[in-house]
Amino acid sequence: MIDKYGREINYLRVSLTDRCNLRCIYCMPEEGVEKACHEDVLRYEEIIKIVQTAAKLGIKKIRYTGGEPLVLRNIEQLIYETSIIPGIEDIAITTNGISLLEKADDLKKAGLRRVNISLDTLKEDKYRLITRGGDLKKVLQAIEKCISIGLTPVKINTVLLKGINDSEIEDLINLTKDMPVNIRFIELMPIGEGEKLYSDCFLSNDEVIESLDGLIPMVSKEGSTAKLYTRKGYKGTIGFISPLSCKFCASCNRIRLTSVGTIKPCLHSENEINIKEVINDELRLRKVLKDVIFNKPAEHKLNEEGKSESHRKMYEIGG
Ligand code: 5AD
Ligand code: SF4
Repeated sequence: MIDKYGREINYLRVSLTDRCNLRCIYCMPEEGVEKACHEDVLRYEEIIKIVQTAAKLGIKKIRYTGGEPLVLRNIEQLIYETSIIPGIEDIAITTNGISLLEKADDLKKAGLRRVNISLDTLKEDKYRLITRGGDLKKVLQAIEKCISIGLTPVKINTVLLKGINDSEIEDLINLTKDMPVNIRFIELMPIGEGEKLYSDCFLSNDEVIESLDGLIPMVSKEGSTAKLYTRKGYKGTIGFISPLSCKFCASCNRIRLTSVGTIKPCLHSENEINIKEVINDELRLRKVLKDVIFNKPAEHKLNEEGKSESHRKMYEIGG
């Protein structure tokens, strides 16, 4: 469906849970967070109803995120049911990769097409530190597995952290030399636990791009939020995402659904539309979704301090 600014909105991102099996220092506090009540969280059949209606309005691409979507039981079932909805052409997940190795075959069989995997370092001890306890080996094995079974292109999301992982930027880029992976560096946002780290650890993409040799600019795909590069002879690509300063609003093609049943037409806007009560009434659901899409804001506005107006944490909206 086309919104009032002429953008084709065809991409729905769904946060399935605010729970996670890691506690990344820029995302969640060590002790964890107050989780959404079980009754408030959408059930699979509710999500399917929303996706069915969204597909009739022109949504073609679904991404399941979290928190960590793979902590959910039987997510394969949800993916299978999504894959048979007419109009849905592409299903992806964003995951930290910890339990992906063991689930990859079943996910692929269920209809999953692609994965984005979060990975901020290639050093085991640093990975344990950043994620507060995660096992890097599992993630690296998962990446290889996904490439081998064709859950591709594998995208790797790396949050840039000055003084923590900036010494590894070349090593991370090196992954794209021999492997067909697309690495994307993401600027730290002052959201959630990122707020505490922001003044010490923020590193801008521009600074990083400036410091790198041999980057060859590529044309980004429509709706893409990354500035894209490659290097001569490299199999993969190198992307840079600036979530706050980014000015991709004019080609933004997405809306978001939170795990508690609200639609966010823009990541950085406070505006959320609760659709929980209308899920079982297809006509009303369709009308609400149509309105939300049509009235998607032209661009995001940051407040006086340059921060997002959204009060949601990243583990509630899944990036
Ligand atoms: N800044 C930038 N990205 C963040 N994420 C979570 N918190 C932040 C933050 N403060 C993103 C990471 C992770 C995804 C789940 O959410 O990219 O990969
Ligand atoms: Fe979990 Fe992702 Fe947040 Fe890390 S960044 S704690 S993996 S939701």
